[in-house]
Amino acid sequence: MYNHKPLPFDKELEGISSKTIETHHGKLYKGYVDKSNSIKERLTDIAKSDNPEGNQTYSELRSLKNGESFANNGVYLHEKYFDILGGDGKSTGELAEAISAKYGSVEQFQKYFTACAMAARGWTILAWDANVGELRVFNCDAHNHGGIWGAIPIITCDVYEHSYFMDTGSDRKTYIDNFFKNLNWEAANELFRKAQELKI
Ligand SMILES: [Fe+2]
Repeated sequence: MYNHKPLPFDKELEGISSKTIETHHGKLYKGYVDKSNSIKERLTDIAKSDNPEGNQTYSELRSLKNGESFANNGVYLHEKYFDILGGDGKSTGELAEAISAKYGSVEQFQKYFTACAMAARGWTILAWDANVGELRVFNCDAHNHGGIWGAIPIITCDVYEHSYFMDTGSDRKTYIDNFFKNLNWEAANELFRKAQELKI
């Protein structure tokens, strides 16, 4: 069962309006939660049926399977996005140290991450790749395209236009700057700590 989790912060963000956050969290993210539950229910029925059928050109099962990864990742990525907002943007902790070790400095990382986010159509994510034990930046053009299995999101930035268009119009760069101004580094450090404990 997927649940519509409450926002982890109740403060007004800098440069990202409450209207944008309310729509994003209350409608769009909720939509992925609801669809994930519907798809899961239908797949459970099909898995128990006597003659489950699939066809790669078109079948209900193919459609459900495509929808499953899109909707489920839509839930996970939005939760990771909201989880690391509401902070003061001041880099700190083991994550900041690991970022500096890999990219030279947090500032240099932010430049690279911003360029990646300008090049993405859906998401830019700093993830802990547990396969190789490294921090890596991934771009996803859709929720279910562009990530790799075994990579755990740490800093997740939604760059779909619904994340910023009401606030900055087509100016995505300013939105990404605002994203970093509101970054909750304590929450990101907690995700980093948990991700590193995962052994695969
Ligand atoms: Fe979104």
